[in-house]
Amino acid sequence: MSSYDVIVIGSGPGGYVCAIRCAQLGLKTACVEGRETLGGTCLNIGCIPSKALLHASHQLHEAEHNFAKMGLKGKAPSVDWTQMQAYKDDVIGQNTKGIEFLFKKNKIDWLKGWGSIPEAGKVKVGDAVHEAKAIVIASGSVPSALPGIEIDEKTVVTSEGALSLGKIPKKLAVIGAGVIGLELGSVYARLGSEVQVIEYLDHITPGMDAEVQKTFKRLLEKQGLTFTMGAAVQGVEAAKGKAKVSYKLRKDDSEHTMEADVVLVSTGRRAYTDGLGLDALGVKVNERGQVVTDGHWATNVPGVYAIGDAIAGPMLAHKAEDEGMAVAEVIAGKHGHVNYGVIPSVIYTHPEVSAVGETEDSLKKAGRAYKVGKFSFMGNGRAKANFAGDGFVKILADKETDRILGAHIIGPMAGDLIHEICVAMEFGAAAQDLALTCHAHPTYSEAVREAALACGDGPIHS
Ligand code: NAI
Repeated sequence: MSSYDVIVIGSGPGGYVCAIRCAQLGLKTACVEGRETLGGTCLNIGCIPSKALLHASHQLHEAEHNFAKMGLKGKAPSVDWTQMQAYKDDVIGQNTKGIEFLFKKNKIDWLKGWGSIPEAGKVKVGDAVHEAKAIVIASGSVPSALPGIEIDEKTVVTSEGALSLGKIPKKLAVIGAGVIGLELGSVYARLGSEVQVIEYLDHITPGMDAEVQKTFKRLLEKQGLTFTMGAAVQGVEAAKGKAKVSYKLRKDDSEHTMEADVVLVSTGRRAYTDGLGLDALGVKVNERGQVVTDGHWATNVPGVYAIGDAIAGPMLAHKAEDEGMAVAEVIAGKHGHVNYGVIPSVIYTHPEVSAVGETEDSLKKAGRAYKVGKFSFMGNGRAKANFAGDGFVKILADKETDRILGAHIIGPMAGDLIHEICVAMEFGAAAQDLALTCHAHPTYSEAVREAALACGDGPIHS
């Protein structure tokens, strides 16, 4: 039996970051992981591989649609799916090996296998039982099941199967117009699939700014994706490599079917704590299966903590990472903190979509007086040069104090541009602080400054 200060269960972005910070703080640390490689869903079957496919398919889109306009003539590249998969697998390998290297560098033991907690202070991996003063549950999430749908990861797939399809489907049906459905739907639309999205609500990407939702849907439609809105999927039948989706339209209860070669089920994820033994241990779990924690990520069982997708909050790798670092500080007797009001979210389509803080809806509900500063990328010289004029930056600021309350961006590099606003929000900045900051020309960032100017005396270029 080996004994540790901390054992982290799960090596996704929450778990591995937590383990590294624990080790940096001088704690003897181990991390349990049952997969053959470290990095969890994000590195192996989520964020990283999907970004590789988004990058590759975006290059194809540029070659097909924009190269000739810039005087780059010649045959557009054709798709070698096997090679694209090999590129994606190589990206995964480089990233997962990177974590292994960081574990070695920080002297973190990788306990290979699936872990459980037989009692407080103990973690069982295979036949071995290890002792730990603190245990951090970072076991992540899995796709949530829809009744009437059986996943085979070939014809009826989750995001995992969608990243490794045997071939590019002629027709892809996507159930759920959330982040996963739209990112992977974009990939296959660019690679030539006919992509039809079926969504229960009347708008896409629930929780996003309503104006962004509308613009985003319009731009995706321009790229060839089609949407059936207000449709509740009832079931999927798969036979002989084909699938039939049945759904009911909410407005009149009429029943319809849609045929496809592959069906992607992307209707949300659920916390994954199966096999940990939480029941027997008496760890409180809420009605959604999420581990209940206090403000310091402690569960009701002393010495057992939980972070990331396994607890409440947005299922985002960076939220898990922040919690991982913060709980390590708490365990080391320091003051870990996460500012949940400033957690950006990004959809890596083209254009990208990003958001942080309040939406107009949430401010209206709270009865808070606010102003809107908006600037279109059409007025940004760099965006125009790069065929990236679609979209806008929108900053929401307090009407009286000018303090930035939230921001919503759809446009080029939106996922990077949002961080200037996140930093400003962390410092409690006013929109004027951004507006008075010199921004290099010509950059996309100038659109952020112009939106900040729009909160005051007005932007220059619109
Ligand atoms: P989601 O919660 O983002 O979207 C699910 C969509 O499915 C919703 O629009 C919902 O209304 C719809 N839906 C649910 N049941 C339905 C039914 N029976 N018929 C039709 N539509 C139905 O979930 P998604 O896309 O599966 O993502 C899961 C989690 O993973 C999210 O929390 C997301 O934030 C995270 N994620 C984040 C990424 C990023 O940050 N770029 C990338 C991928 C995933």
